[in-house]
Amino acid sequence: MTTKFLLDESEMPTRWYNVIPDLPSPPPPVLHPGTLQPVGPEDLAPLFPMELILQEVTTDSYVDIPGPVLDVYRLWRPSPLYRAHRLEKALGTPAHIYYKYEGVSPAGSHKPNTAVPQAYYNAQAGIRRLTTETGAGQWGTALAFACAQFGLDCEVWQVRASYDQKPYRKMMIEVFGGTIHPSPSDLTEAGRKILAEHPDSTGSLGIAISEAVEVAAQSPDTNYALGSVLNHVLLHQTIIGEEALLQMAKAGEQPDLIVGCTGGGSNFGGLAFPFLREKLAGRMAPTIRAVEPAACPSLTRGTYAYDFGDTAGMTPLMKMHSLGHDFVPDPIHAGGLRYHGMSPLISHLKELGLLEAVAKPQRECFAAGVQFARTEGIVPAPEPTHALAAAIEEALLCKETGESKVILTALCGHAHLDLPAYDAYLSGKMVDHELDSGAVDAAVRSMPPVTIG
Ligand SMILES: Cc1ncc(COP(=O)(O)O)c(C=O)c1O
Repeated sequence: MTTKFLLDESEMPTRWYNVIPDLPSPPPPVLHPGTLQPVGPEDLAPLFPMELILQEVTTDSYVDIPGPVLDVYRLWRPSPLYRAHRLEKALGTPAHIYYKYEGVSPAGSHKPNTAVPQAYYNAQAGIRRLTTETGAGQWGTALAFACAQFGLDCEVWQVRASYDQKPYRKMMIEVFGGTIHPSPSDLTEAGRKILAEHPDSTGSLGIAISEAVEVAAQSPDTNYALGSVLNHVLLHQTIIGEEALLQMAKAGEQPDLIVGCTGGGSNFGGLAFPFLREKLAGRMAPTIRAVEPAACPSLTRGTYAYDFGDTAGMTPLMKMHSLGHDFVPDPIHAGGLRYHGMSPLISHLKELGLLEAVAKPQRECFAAGVQFARTEGIVPAPEPTHALAAAIEEALLCKETGESKVILTALCGHAHLDLPAYDAYLSGKMVDHELDSGAVDAAVRSMPPVTIG
């Protein structure tokens, strides 16, 4: 009864996988908000180094992982794949549940998989400082760690709701050498504008992105780094799925269902894309399911249209499932899932029918998180409790039908610095925030009208 399926360091994949060339059609282009023409490398150059811009638009199926990035990855990679024997037993299900655990990284989540290459390529390009947003704080921690590896300064704007809920993230970012501000802040024009209208704003990822982008755009030695959403971020995360493919082969099984939580789509895409490649080639046939919070249901209830990636409207326009860039989600505990939009690539796959999406309220997710902790011994971050709730739902269906489905889920982080969220759940203080349709309509009305020929 094997519990952990491990890879030797020598078996770690050395290439990231780009799913786009394998799709029946490419995702729609990202547009310049002024001209409504597809953005070119020069439009993105004030924010990103050229290597990352090229990865954003690459049509190559694979990108080699640079040696210095592999060296840092080896601090925690390959990450383990577990068979959840104890959870299966507690559920009384004939399903086989596997989870790929990314909480072994320095930040405690999948985020360093892209933070490290982003810091590396920026350092190579002569950049001295990176700015970024963070929700739960996982991404800010990951980038602060990655910047320390390559001698860069790191400045982080953390969404106010999470800044107040998770004080230890601030300390960890500072230990890694980063600087952190709550967002909205009075350090930027975008932040001051929000604070003037809403002094008690709990913030959102969209607002924090505006602040970090504004600061990066003003200094030639400073670039911006995004922890999710963009193609190059999802590309870097495919190391998760490439490893999991090798590990599932060691387990002698193929997944019938792959399930992951989606904030901007990076841990889900990272796990699912290599399996999607196998599916498109006819070598396996898993159902691929994204799970998002009912309080911020971009994929299940948002509109598929061009919208800004940030609240102030400073980013290019991306075609994605969005609740509108003005949308400020309720302060749920899964801070990393409080984003108004979705990765354009994940959105495109949804439109192509290559993945499905469901939304879950947070109490059901925390119930799953507690059950998982009590059986498997890992306290999951609030974000992946969404995936676990959907995995448990499927496993219980299997109990009814008697099917031994193989379920593979992304356990993308632990909750060691998110314990107040569990306290809120266990003490009965947690509430579910369901969006009524009026709120969805109002949010979507803020989307810019974009007509493309
Ligand atoms: C642990 C964890 N999971 C998931 C997410 C959501 O991001 P993504 O959908 O890009 O994986 C975050 C974002 O902060 C996170 O910290």
